[in-house]
Formats: sequence, structure tokens, C-alpha cells
Amino acid sequence: MENTYSSHLFHANTSFLLACLFLFLLPFSSLSASDGVIVNPADYRALRAFKHELVDSRGFLRTWNDTGGYGVCSGAWAGIKCVNGRVIYIQLPWRRLGGRISEKDGQLKALKKLSLHENVLAGPLPRSLGFRPYLRGVYLFNNLLSGSIPPTIGNCHSLQTLDLSNNSLTGNIPPSLVNSTRLFRLNLSYNSLFGSIPVGLTRLPSLTILALQHNNLSGSVPDTWVGTGTKPYQLQVLSLDYNFLTGTIPVSLSELSLLQQVL
Ligand SMILES: *[C@@H]1O[C@H](CO)[C@@H](O)[C@H](O)[C@H]1NC(C)=O
Ligand SMILES: *[C@@H]1O[C@H](CO)[C@@H](O)[C@H](O)[C@H]1NC(C)=O
Ligand SMILES: *[C@@H]1O[C@H](CO)[C@@H](O)[C@H](O)[C@H]1NC(C)=O
Ligand SMILES: *[C@@H]1O[C@H](CO)[C@@H](O)[C@H](O)[C@H]1NC(C)=O
Ligand SMILES: *[C@@H]1O[C@H](CO)[C@@H](O)[C@H](O)[C@H]1NC(C)=O
Repeated sequence: MENTYSSHLFHANTSFLLACLFLFLLPFSSLSASDGVIVNPADYRALRAFKHELVDSRGFLRTWNDTGGYGVCSGAWAGIKCVNGRVIYIQLPWRRLGGRISEKDGQLKALKKLSLHENVLAGPLPRSLGFRPYLRGVYLFNNLLSGSIPPTIGNCHSLQTLDLSNNSLTGNIPPSLVNSTRLFRLNLSYNSLFGSIPVGLTRLPSLTILALQHNNLSGSVPDTWVGTGTKPYQLQVLSLDYNFLTGTIPVSLSELSLLQQVL
């Protein structure tokens, strides 16, 4: 016991020193998985809270165990990538992680990518998702998440991919998504979302994939699919089958030159 502990300390110190040396020797190189900087204390606390609410039955997060947080940005913590001591990626798909996603992970202000798909996460989506100005990709498909999609998601102006498909989400598609103007792929299929399709979705200039099939959506399909300005509207895939939508296929859809697939 004593031995393992001190060898771990030795290991942590060594990699820390190596990381410092690396940083010192190569200040201008681009550092990949390990940026050698001590993690920001708020991000460290947020990751600990995040781990605390997960059920990690297979022990995939056993590397998240040092108390000083030296391992976080040195590449020792599985699934974490940092830049300048701020956590930018959490990437832990296919890990059989259960429990819930901590609300406190909102402290991860620099987060760009949250990838936790194909796990068994339950409970609601954290409201804090919407308080991350740099968030680009949210991949939470194939989990057991419930509750509604927080309207604060519209505050993520950098959001490009939002894939919450194949969960148990209810409620409406938040109209606030109209403010995520860089959204490229929106997959909310295989949930229990109800209400109508927000008209704003038809005005997102970069939207290329819109998958809403297998939900409880009702009302008619909006007929306002137009690009903004001179750029052609980007939509290529639109999936709406298995809902309670009424009416006909809107005329404006036929004017989208890039559209390849409507299901
Ligand atoms: C932390 O986890 C690593 C990798 O599993 C292990 O080698 C090390 O002994 C652990 N350290 C502590 C303090 O539990
Ligand atoms: C939804 O997720 C479950 C469990 O991960 C999987 O078995 C099922 O095939 C998925 N359904 C779709 C449509 O992807
Ligand atoms: C949307 O999500 C469903 C369920 O996870 C998946 O089967 C489908 O391939 C996805 N569609 C697109 C276009 O990404
Ligand atoms: C989009 O953002 C603006 C400015 O922050 C806000 O006033 C507006 O209510 C938002 N739109 C939606 C539909 O939430
Ligand atoms: C969705 O529709 C199905 C089939 O009509 C129904 O059984 C289910 O209760 C509905 N779910 C919600 C959340 O409205």
C-alpha cells in the first residue's frame, strides 16, 4: 500500500517535472493531449463534481484520482484535453457510465466538446450547458437522459453539433436555438419531444442536417425554408418521419438546391 502510494507520487511528480521541462524547452510548439499546465482550480472542482455524480462501474475514471489535479492537463486523466490549463474536451463515449451529468460542470467555461454518447446516463441535461460561450459540440446520443432541453442552449453561439438523439427527452424544441446561428447538425430524433417545429430552425444559415424523426411533434411543417442573403441554404438532410405532423410538404423545401434527402 505504502509502496503504491509513494510510487504514484513519484510518478506524478516525474510527469509533472517532465511536463514543465517540455513546456520550458518547447514554448512555441503546439502541444496536443498534454499541455503541461496545472489545471484551473474551478475546472478541477468541476471535474471532481462531475465524477462524483457518475457511476463508473467499469473503473474507466480510475485515472482521475490525484488530489492536486496535476494529472488533469498532463494527459493522465482519461478523456480530458486542456489548453492553457482550461479543460476544452470531455470525451468519454462507450464507457458504460451511469448516474447523471453534474450541474456544476457549468464551471468548465472553456469547454468546446462534451462527448458522452453510448453510455447509460440518466437524469436531466444540465442547465449549465447554455453558459459555455465556446461550446461547439454536444454528443449525448444513446443514453437515458430525460426532462426537457434547457432553453439556455440558445446562448451557445458557437454550437455546431447538438446530438441528443435516442434518449427520453420530453418538452418542446427550444425556439432559442434560432440564436445558435452556427448550428450545422441537429439530431433530436428518437425522443418524446412534443409541440411544433420552431419556425426559427428554418432560418439557421448553416443547418445541414436536421433529424427530428421518432418524436411526438405535431402541427404543420413550417414553410419558411429560406437562406439568408445570397448564400444557398445549406440543408441536405431533413428527417421528420414518425411524428404527428400534419399538412403537406412545404413548397419552400423544394427550392433548397442542396437538399438530398427528406424522410
Ligand atoms: C491512480 O490511478 C493510477 C492508474 O490506475 C494508479 O496507477 C495509481 O496507483 C492511482 N493512485 C492512487 C493514489 O490511487
Ligand atoms: C438507442 O440506444 C439503444 C441503447 O443504447 C440501442 O440499443 C438502440 O439501437 C438505439 N436506437 C437507435 C435508433 O439508434
Ligand atoms: C440521428 O440519430 C439517430 C439515433 O441516434 C441515428 O440513427 C441517425 O443516424 C442520426 N441521423 C443523422 C443524420 O445524424
Ligand atoms: C436570441 O437572443 C436575443 C439576444 O440575446 C434574445 O433577445 C432573444 O430572445 C433570443 N431569441 C430566442 C428565440 O430565445
Ligand atoms: C408520445 O406519443 C405516444 C403515442 O401516441 C404516447 O404513448 C406517449 O405518451 C407520448 N409521449 C409524450 C411525452 O407525450
